[in-house]
Amino acid sequence: MSREETAPREGGKTPPFARRDWQPEGAPDPLIGRKHGHIGQAISRIDGPLKVKGAARYAAEVPFEDMLYAALVTSTVSRGRIASIDASSAQEASGVALVMTYRNAPRMETPKMFGTSPKAAGLHTLPIMQDEEIHWNGQTVAVVLAESQEQADHAASLIEVTYETLPTITDFDVAKADARFPDSIMGEPADLKIGKADEALAAAPVRIDATYTTPRHNHNAIELHAVTLAWDGDSLEVHDASQLVTATAGTLAQVFGVREDQVRVHSPYVGGGFGGKCLWDHQIIAAAAARLARRPVRLCLPRDHVYRLVGGRTCTEQRVALGATRDGKLTALIHTGVVAMTKHNSCPEQFTFPARHLYAADSFHVSQQVADMDMTPNTFMRAPGESVGTFALESALDELAHELDMCPIELRRRIEPDKDPTTGNPFSSRETLQAYRLGAERFGWSRRDKVPGRRREGEWLIGMGVATGTYPYYRMDGGKARITLTADGFAVIGMAMQDMGMGTATAQAQHCADRLGLPLDKVRFDYGDSDLPQGTVAGGSSQTATIGGAVIAAHQALIKELVPLIGNDSPLAGAAQEELETRDGGLGVVDDPDRFESFSSILQRAGRDSVVGEAAAAKPSELEHFSMHSTAAQFAEVRVNAVTGEIRVSRFLGSFDCGRILNAKTAASQFRGGIIMGIGLALMEETQFDPRKGRILNPSLSDYHVPVHLDVPDIEVMWTDIPDPHAPMGARGIGEIGITGVGAAIANAVFNATGKRIRDLPITLDKLL
Ligand code: MOS
Repeated sequence: MSREETAPREGGKTPPFARRDWQPEGAPDPLIGRKHGHIGQAISRIDGPLKVKGAARYAAEVPFEDMLYAALVTSTVSRGRIASIDASSAQEASGVALVMTYRNAPRMETPKMFGTSPKAAGLHTLPIMQDEEIHWNGQTVAVVLAESQEQADHAASLIEVTYETLPTITDFDVAKADARFPDSIMGEPADLKIGKADEALAAAPVRIDATYTTPRHNHNAIELHAVTLAWDGDSLEVHDASQLVTATAGTLAQVFGVREDQVRVHSPYVGGGFGGKCLWDHQIIAAAAARLARRPVRLCLPRDHVYRLVGGRTCTEQRVALGATRDGKLTALIHTGVVAMTKHNSCPEQFTFPARHLYAADSFHVSQQVADMDMTPNTFMRAPGESVGTFALESALDELAHELDMCPIELRRRIEPDKDPTTGNPFSSRETLQAYRLGAERFGWSRRDKVPGRRREGEWLIGMGVATGTYPYYRMDGGKARITLTADGFAVIGMAMQDMGMGTATAQAQHCADRLGLPLDKVRFDYGDSDLPQGTVAGGSSQTATIGGAVIAAHQALIKELVPLIGNDSPLAGAAQEELETRDGGLGVVDDPDRFESFSSILQRAGRDSVVGEAAAAKPSELEHFSMHSTAAQFAEVRVNAVTGEIRVSRFLGSFDCGRILNAKTAASQFRGGIIMGIGLALMEETQFDPRKGRILNPSLSDYHVPVHLDVPDIEVMWTDIPDPHAPMGARGIGEIGITGVGAAIANAVFNATGKRIRDLPITLDKLL
C-alpha cells in the first residue's frame, strides 16, 4: 500500500499529505502512513523486570546520608487562626531535630499557579506555612523532623494546637446558595447558549428533565505521595513522585528564590498519578524544613494525609434536560449545574464538556457554576469533568431512549453530529459509530431485553447498559525533545516527561524507533528528570501527543545536523534535507532505495562520536482548527440481587476510538484501569465529608471503597485504530477516556435489570431497595 492510500479518512476525502513535515493543522505526520515496525505492537513495559525485582527506586526509597524523616501535624478546624502551638514536648522528644511552624519557617513565595507558564505548578494561591491562617480542615500547621519515622510520628502527636475559629462554609447545600459563574471553565465559556433551549424544551414532543448528583472522590494511588530531598548550598536535589518534573523544579526555584538550574527534580518511577501527583504543600514544606535543619529530608505522607493535603474530585449537582422529536432528534440539549470549589484554586470539575461536543441538537444551554467551600483545594482526578459529566448526560440519553422506546445505540446514531455541535469546527477524526458497531457485535448487545426487569436467573436480575465515553485531545505547549545519535547507531531521546506506570518509556521507544528507522533495542527514551529538555504535565491525557510533537521537531533538527556530515563519497551526496528520511538505521532519499547510508557510517566517516538534534514542538494549533476528541462505546452487564440489592458487574466491554494505538498491551491496561475506576465511580467511591466541620471522615482504604479483584469482571477492550490525521503519530491519547461513560453504562444496566433509575452516585444497594 502506498502512503497516500493509508492516509486516514477525513470526511471521505484524502487529506493533504506532506512527506517531510507534520503541520499541526495541515499535513499529517508522515509516520501515520508508514508501514510500522514497532508502533501498535503489544510490547511489555521495558521497566517491568526492574519493578518486579524491586530494583526500581521510588521517591520514598532514595537514601541520603544523615537524612531526617518528616511527620506533619494538620489542622482540625476548617477556617480560623492558630491561637497557640505548644511544641515543647515534641522538641524534647527523642530523635527530634526540628519542629517547624509558620513562626520559624523560611519566608517563601507563594507558588505560581499551574497553567500560567510551563514552569508553574501551584495548585492554590494560599501562602504555605507563612501565617496563622487556616483555610481547610487538614491544612498543615507543623512539621517535625527526626532521626527515624517513628520518632517523627511520635513527636508530631505531642504537638498541641489551639485555634480561633472563623465562620466557615463546609456544607454544599449552603455554599450553593452563593454559586457563581467562574471567568471560564478551562478556557471555555461557563455559560453557553445556542438558540432558545428553554423554549425548545417546553415545545418538545418528548422531554427528559432530571437532576444527577455525584459525590467527592479522593486520590488513592498505591504509592503514597513522597519526596526525598537535599540542599547543597542553594542547590536543591529532589526525588519526587511527580506528574510534572519541569514545572515542579521551576516552581520550587521560584518559591525559594534560587535559580531554575539550581533545582533538579528526579521522578523516574511513580506508583500511579491520576491527576494527584503534582506539586502540593508537602514538597515545599519538606524543602523548607530541610533548608532550616541543613539536612536531607524524606517526607512520605501517610494515607490519611494524602486525603487531607492532596485535593480530589469535588461534588457535582447536574441537571440534564433533553427535548426530542418522536424520531429521536434533539431539539434542546440542556446541561447545567454546580460544583464545589475553593476561592483559592481554579479547578471546576468541567462536567459540561461532553455536552458541548458529543451530539447534534437544535439548541443548547450548557452552563456550570461553582460554589465556594472551605476545603482542600480540589484538583484534576481521573478524567475530571468527563467522568461525572458523562454520568449525567449519558444517563439522561438512556432515559430518553426508554421514553422513545428506541434502542439507545440507535438514538445515538440519530444524533451523531457531522461537525462539532457547539464550536462548528470539523472533527479531526470521529468514528464513534464504528466503535458502537464493533462493540455491540462483540458484546452481544442484540441479546438485551429492552423491557427492564424481565431477565432473571433465580434471585438475580440481569441488565445491559451502554453509554458514550469521551475525552478531549490535548497537546501541551512548550515541550522540547533531544535526540542523541551515537556512532554505534544508538539513539537516546530525552524529554522531561513522566511515566507513572502507564508505559510512557515503552510506547515512546516504539514510536522513536519507527520514526528514526531503528530497531527497538537501539533506542532509549529518557524522562523523569527536570534537567532534560523542557517537559509538560503528564495530565489531560496529553503526554503522548506532546512528546510526539516535540520528537517530530527534534527529528527534523537531527536530520539538519546530519546533512553537513554527509560527504561527497556518500550515496546521499548532494541530497537536500527535504529529500531525506530516516529508515533502516540510517538516512535515505525518499523513494530511492539505492541512495542510503547508515547513521554509523555517516558519523564514522565524519569523525563524530555523536550528533544531537534538539527542538521545541510546533504550537498546538491543530486545536484551534479542529474539534479533537476521543470517544468510546462502553457496554456493561450487571446482575442485581432482587432480595439484597447487591450489584455485580458481570461483564464489561469498552470499544474505543482514540486514533492510532501505540502499544496494544499498555493501551489495553490503561483502558481496563480506567474502566475499573469507572466501576468504583459507579458503585463504591465516596468521600465522606462532614458538612459541619469540613473534615474527611473516611481517609483510608478500609473506609473509602475502591474496586477489588472480586468486584472486577473480565473486561474486554477493543479499538478502531483509525489514525487521527491531525495528531502526532495519529494518536489522540488514551490516559483518561477509559473511566468516562462507565458510570452511566452501569447505571443504565442497573435500570435495564431493575427498572430503577439511580441518579445519585455511587449506586449502593440501599438505593435499590
Ligand atoms: Mo489526569 S486527571 O489530567 O492526571
